[in-house]
This record gives sequence, C-alpha cells and structure tokens, in this order.
Amino acid sequence: MRSLQNILVTGGAGFIGGNFIRFLLEKAAGFSGRIVNLDALTYAGNRKSLEDLEARGGRYFFEYGDISDRPTVEAIFEKYRIDTVVHFAAESHVDRSILGPEAFVKTNVMGTFTLLDAARNYWGESDGTLRQDVLFHHISTDEVYGSLGETGAFTEATAYDPRSPYSASKAASDHLVMAYHHTYGLPVTLSNCSNNYGPYQFPEKLIPLSILNMLEGKPLPVYGDGRNIRDWLYVEDHIRAVWTILQKGRTGEKYHIGGENEWENIQLLRVLIDITAKKGGLDPEKLRGSITYVTDRPGHDRRYAMDCSKIKEELGWKQELGFEEGLEKTVDWYLANPGWIAGIRTGEYRKWIEKNYEKRI
Ligand code: NAD
Ligand code: TYD
Repeated sequence: MRSLQNILVTGGAGFIGGNFIRFLLEKAAGFSGRIVNLDALTYAGNRKSLEDLEARGGRYFFEYGDISDRPTVEAIFEKYRIDTVVHFAAESHVDRSILGPEAFVKTNVMGTFTLLDAARNYWGESDGTLRQDVLFHHISTDEVYGSLGETGAFTEATAYDPRSPYSASKAASDHLVMAYHHTYGLPVTLSNCSNNYGPYQFPEKLIPLSILNMLEGKPLPVYGDGRNIRDWLYVEDHIRAVWTILQKGRTGEKYHIGGENEWENIQLLRVLIDITAKKGGLDPEKLRGSITYVTDRPGHDRRYAMDCSKIKEELGWKQELGFEEGLEKTVDWYLANPGWIAGIRTGEYRKWIEKNYEKRI
C-alpha cells in the first residue's frame, strides 16, 4: 500500500502542477495528507495562482527553490518526511527550447536526476533496499515520441524519437526515471500526456496566447500552414488521471493520457474565435481577419496522437469534458481573471514576445 501522506509536488506554481494541488486539496476523495510545493518561480511560475490555498494554511506548504539544488531537495525530504513525489517542474515550451536549450537540460535532465537521487537516498533502508510504500511519479509528454504521419497513434511501446531540445530533455528524464526503477528498485510510475489547456496556463502556448491576443486586439500567429495536429485534453482530466495512477498504477509502468481529440491548429483557432467572440462581445469576422500566418517553428512536429487504452482498461480512467465545453470554461476563466494575467505579463514576458512573435509577424 502506498502511503500518499506527504506529497512533494514540484513545479506547483505552474499550470498543471498548480491545478493538481488545487484538485488534491479541494476534490481528491480520501486524500487527507500534506502537500509541499517546490518551485523556483521561473517566468512560468506564479505563487499567486495558489495564494488562497496558502492563506488557508494547514496542509499546503510552499518552498522556494530549484529542483537541481541537491541540499534544498534533501532538506525538503527530511523536513516534510516525503513519501510521494509528483514531478511536474520543467522548462515546458518548445519555442523557448529552440532559442535557449541550456535551461531545458539543466532543469529537465539534471533537475530530474537530482530529485531521483535524493529520493533514492532518503527512501533507502539499512539493508540497502528501498522502501516500497513510497512513489516517484514523473510527468512527461507525448512529444518524446516525435512526429506521426496521417494515421496511427503512440502507444506505451512506441520507441522514443524526440526532435526538439524540449522533447529530447523530457525523453532523457523519462529514461532516468525508468533506469532508477530497474537499477535501484525505486518505485516509480510515469505518464505521458498530450497538449493540455485550461485555467492558469501561461500565455505563450497556443490556446491562452490566442485568447489573450483576441481580447487585446492583437494578431493571432499561426505557424507554417496551420495544419499541424495536436491532441487536446482539459487539464482537470489530466490531473484526475495522475491521481488515479498514484492510487492504483502499477509500479514501474508508464501510462498514456490524452484527449483522443485531434485538431489542426487552424481549425482549433476557428472554434476558439467563435467562443471568445461570443463570450467577450467581439466581432468574429474581425477576429478571423487577425489570423496571421508566420514563419514556421524549426523542426515543427506534424502530428501527435495518443492511444490511451492502457489507462482506460487497467485503471478505469476516461476523459470527462468535451472540447467545446473545456474551451468555454477556459475562456470564461481568462475573462474573469485579468489581475492574474496582468501579474504575469511583466517585463520578462514582453521581452520574450518581442524576441519571438513580433519578429515573426
Ligand atoms: P509550466 O511551464 O506552466 O510550469 C512549470 C513550473 O515549473 C513553473 O512553476 C516553474 O517555475 C517551475 N520550474 C521550472 N524550472 C524549475 C526548477 N529548476 N526548479 C523548480 N521549479 C522549476 O509547465 P506545465 O505546462 O504546467 O507543465 C508541467 C509538466 O507537464 C512539465 O513536466 C511538462 O513537460 C509536462 N507536460 C505539459 C503539457 C502541456 O500541455 N502543458 C503536456 C504534457 C506534459
Ligand atoms: P504549443 O501550445 O506551443 O504546444 P506544443 O508545441 O508543445 O504542441 O503549440 C501548439 C501548436 O500550435 C503547435 O503546432 C505550434 C502551434 N502554434 C501556433 O501556430 N501559433 C502560436 O502562436 C503558438 C504558440 C503555437
């Protein structure tokens, strides 16, 4: 039986990790333990996303620090008697990995290594074995598999073939996680998920960037011919899958999580325009006119698709939210939270936009 009492969540000030912590404290039936959020508050991290939970006190603790800083990580394991790690912290944006890959290697590869090795050390028994009532769950992505043609889907048995510095660094971290299981007996599980969307996502990714650009009357950049395909999943569906794996997933196994909901970028944008126009009181024709085809991303993967039959059949998880409903909830959230948006669209964000999008357009 897994303990699941003192959970270290890394990267909980970011998009998915933050939604996960909120879910654990507000919706996870049967969870009464403590959560420690270790986050370095990079441009993508925002402590404000969870300030209401922090103010409540009690079971949620924030620790500022870098996952690749061994003394910091070791001190947290000791201080909170950590029995579960849910590892979200990462540099997460492909475009940034193309402009500056070093941070991706440092955080995604060295950071994951540091966490794994600290866990191995802290969970060691006096006879040289490791505790088995503990768990290291690693959050990964469908991008480690590379790019698909027009048909087929990635399965858990598909060979890794990463093609961007981001996906290569995530692939390396996945291999380290599995190596720690096979070599040292560290109890691990791993999940690869497709593109997430929902509240609190940093507006550099396609959906929140497009919503905010529509609200601010800015162009909507579409890379290349706009026909690249992604599989989209509402963030809470991802989080419920992770919670299910923590409770019931087999140690040493990986599970695919996805929306089974494929969209060409340009088609997605058209749906998002209709929803944002309706909810934001904007002219859809004008928004459609602001679609701007820009220079393609170098090495742009054409299509991702996930086969999720393993988690569905073995653990009983399934997607709950339809795509339109999920997009509507997302647009509602961005409309209702201008303060959060203003707080993150700071100097660093502006610099990035200038360097990336404005030049392309
Ligand atoms: P995000 O960029 O929104 O958040 C990342 C968080 O990690 C931030 O709070 C940041 O401050 C923190 N962080 C970065 N470097 C750190 C370091 N060295 N030490 C401590 N904290 C650090 O990312 P996200 O979209 O929430 O993604 C979370 C995880 O899910 C990542 O591992 C990502 O690869 C994976 N994933 C994301 C998606 C997606 O669509 N967003 C899909 C599949 C998998
Ligand atoms: P993104 O949200 O960056 O996620 P990922 O690259 O991890 O899938 O991009 C999703 C898709 O949208 C991808 O094919 C690139 C494309 N895209 C645009 O066309 N315009 C944009 O402004 C952005 C950010 C992405």
